[in-house]
Amino acid sequence: MKIKTICCIGAGYVGGPTMAVIAQQCSHIKVTVVDLNASRIAAWNDADLNKLPVFEPGLDKVVGEARGRNLFFSTDVDQAIDEADMIFISVNTPTKTYGKGKGMAADLKYIELCARQIASVSKSNKIVVEKSTLPVRTASAIKNILDHTGNGVEFQILSNPEFLAEGTAIEDLLSPDRVLIGGDTSDKGQEAIQALVDVYANWVPKERILTTNVWSSELSKLTANAFLAQRVSSINSISALCEKTGADVNEVAKAIGLDSRIGSKFLKSSVGFGGSCFQKDILNLVYIAKTYGLNEVADYWEQVIIMNDYQKNRFSNNIVSTLYNTVSGKKITFLGWAFKKDTNDTRESAAIQVADNLLNEQAHIEVYDPKVSEERMYADLDYLNTRTEAENRALLKVLKDPYQACKESHAIAVLTEWDEFKTYDWQRIYNNMLKPAFVFDGRGILDTKALEKIGFVCYSIGKGSK
Ligand code: UDX
Ligand code: UDX
Ligand code: ADP
Repeated sequence: MKIKTICCIGAGYVGGPTMAVIAQQCSHIKVTVVDLNASRIAAWNDADLNKLPVFEPGLDKVVGEARGRNLFFSTDVDQAIDEADMIFISVNTPTKTYGKGKGMAADLKYIELCARQIASVSKSNKIVVEKSTLPVRTASAIKNILDHTGNGVEFQILSNPEFLAEGTAIEDLLSPDRVLIGGDTSDKGQEAIQALVDVYANWVPKERILTTNVWSSELSKLTANAFLAQRVSSINSISALCEKTGADVNEVAKAIGLDSRIGSKFLKSSVGFGGSCFQKDILNLVYIAKTYGLNEVADYWEQVIIMNDYQKNRFSNNIVSTLYNTVSGKKITFLGWAFKKDTNDTRESAAIQVADNLLNEQAHIEVYDPKVSEERMYADLDYLNTRTEAENRALLKVLKDPYQACKESHAIAVLTEWDEFKTYDWQRIYNNMLKPAFVFDGRGILDTKALEKIGFVCYSIGKGSK
């Protein structure tokens, strides 16, 4: 079967960039991305490519090339489903905030709604592809819904987890380490797998396209994210020990990373990992393990999250204790709010927790982030429900100029590793701050030696005191 029409339900951080690249690489396939959120679709269709709802380096160029040719963004979900040979489900699967599995399990209501809509609209056979990260065995739930339409339409369900990282999405999509496709072991299942392999084979070398059964594919996605997050928590746990002993976490990371069995990537100690995937996927893994009575397995992985929470709290506690045990009424400047550089995404960003902790200590925070909007920051804080919306707006201000944000501040905290922070005129910043002028580098990106020469008092994650 040769795929001519693709529909993707969900125009978010995953669906948007992934479909843009498929369309760019496969000009013979018509790709339509649909979403219920009309303003999001309008932004994807904006003539000004700087206004796309997702900021990703290189995305504007890819969208500019394919949009209107064979890439379309629309709110007409039914029509796109009806036309498609292959439907990707790329909707959000947040952690449940209610009922059974609250705070742990993935909320599959958006996925189920999609499945029901596909079932009710489809008049011809379709291949349905899970793109969202899902608990193992979700495919069989989707299949159950789809197999009961009673109108003779046949569905094949594939699992095709996305491994792109935000900030490098386009690069990751154009040359992935691997593409993983899981499907049914029956002949029809294998045919469906082949159809999707043929789509990727337009630009991905064949040896990097891996096929497995559905469950291995689903579980691999959760496992990959759990392992990555575990590396960050592991090095962060060591950062705390470095600070006590006088070791330097960067030196330790380098020394262990040179062991080819360990490898050098993902060993950057930080104020804590964020992003929409790591925490959610681990909680998911923990929940699944508990469901099967595997309590030791659940406890093992839960520790990765516990260490991450510890790291975020350790950072804010350190700010308070360094500033003579009180930040009440003091101005603290945040450089960065996004969960990592080169993205406007803030989901689970360490900055949110650190801000919340400092606001509880009655600090005044002024934030500068090159890409995150003011509304987004307030929404992140309001979501925690720690204080009223009015209080959040009174205590935290968002500035468009970093120098202004640092003016008359007691301390600067670096929460995101944006490159531009390294190039600032730090002498000018120092001159306008209250003294002693503190810098808390939660990302280890600043040249603390140079800053100390200017007169700053510096703290850098994982560096033992001299
Ligand atoms: C280890 C370190 O590898 C070495 O760098 C250090 O100097 C001493 O400790 P060693 O204990 O000799 O070396 O053997 P190693 O190959 O690391 O295996 C340790 C144990 O882990 C063995 O029981 C091995 O069977 C087990 N193992 C290793 C696994 O179960 N799975 C693996 O993937 C790797
Ligand atoms: C992650 C996975 O990398 C990706 O494969 C999967 O598809 C989705 O989840 P993402 O969350 O976009 O991608 O970004 P990633 O680069 O993995 O960073 C996650 C968090 O870990 C960020 O907050 C980052 O700052 C932090 N991190 C990462 C560290 O603190 N240290 C590191 O060494 C690496
Ligand atoms: P991700 O990071 O997984 O891409 P996002 O939240 O950025 O997650 O994007 C998911 C998108 O899916 C949102 O824009 C949301 O409006 C959309 N969505 C959720 N449910 C449906 C649905 N039933 N039909 C169409 N779009 C949906």
